[in-house]
Amino acid sequence: MYKSKEKILIAVDGPAAAGKSTISKIVANKLQINYIDTGSMYRAITLKCLMKNVDIEDKKAVIDIAINSKIDFKEGNIYLDDKIVNDAIREELVSNNVAKVSQIPEVREILVKLQRKTGENASSILDGRDIGSVVFPNADYKFFLIATPEERGNRRYKELKEKGFDVNLDEIIKEIEERDLVDKTRKVSPLIKPVDAIEIDTTGKTIDDIVEYIINIIKK
Ligand code: CDP
Repeated sequence: MYKSKEKILIAVDGPAAAGKSTISKIVANKLQINYIDTGSMYRAITLKCLMKNVDIEDKKAVIDIAINSKIDFKEGNIYLDDKIVNDAIREELVSNNVAKVSQIPEVREILVKLQRKTGENASSILDGRDIGSVVFPNADYKFFLIATPEERGNRRYKELKEKGFDVNLDEIIKEIEERDLVDKTRKVSPLIKPVDAIEIDTTGKTIDDIVEYIINIIKK
């Protein structure tokens, strides 16, 4: 059973829009531990490349951006070079390019180092694609969230609509399916379910049900 004074590391992996960040944020709150959204780091580097008109296919230039960027999390905000980029990293253009950026081993090396440093400091829940497999293979708990592409597309559509983005459902489903394919088939740290992870199919389940399920496992 997890006691609040112990240091704990929880890994949450899974495909795009499976509910990882929504669930992880609530679990972090309930357990009073840090939440680290590792996808937002890859998104921040992608955003900076786009803002600087760097060709995403130009690996050397992308690596250079990753080396020379400052990424921080403070009070639920993500900062890129000291500016909040919470909404900018959710733009469609970033989503369409992030999987290419995250394929680059040197970019991953930089961000994994940052993720380990952040996670080693205090109890944390991290969500991403390679947390349980590569970043923290010794995590205390590993979860792998999945849902049907339709459900994931619908959730992301609603989420972006609510944030005021002008979005199209079919395009979103296409985007997340394409991104999943790149994430699953890349050479370095592909999206896989770690053998010791607990898989949760979130299709048709409420957020509260999934949170309760996870908390029960951790507190058992
Ligand atoms: O929120 P969503 O599920 O759409 O994606 P995200 O968690 O923001 O991650 C965006 C992209 O970053 C993923 O599609 C991966 O290409 C990459 N990523 C990764 O390679 N490794 C991670 N640990 C997290 C994200």
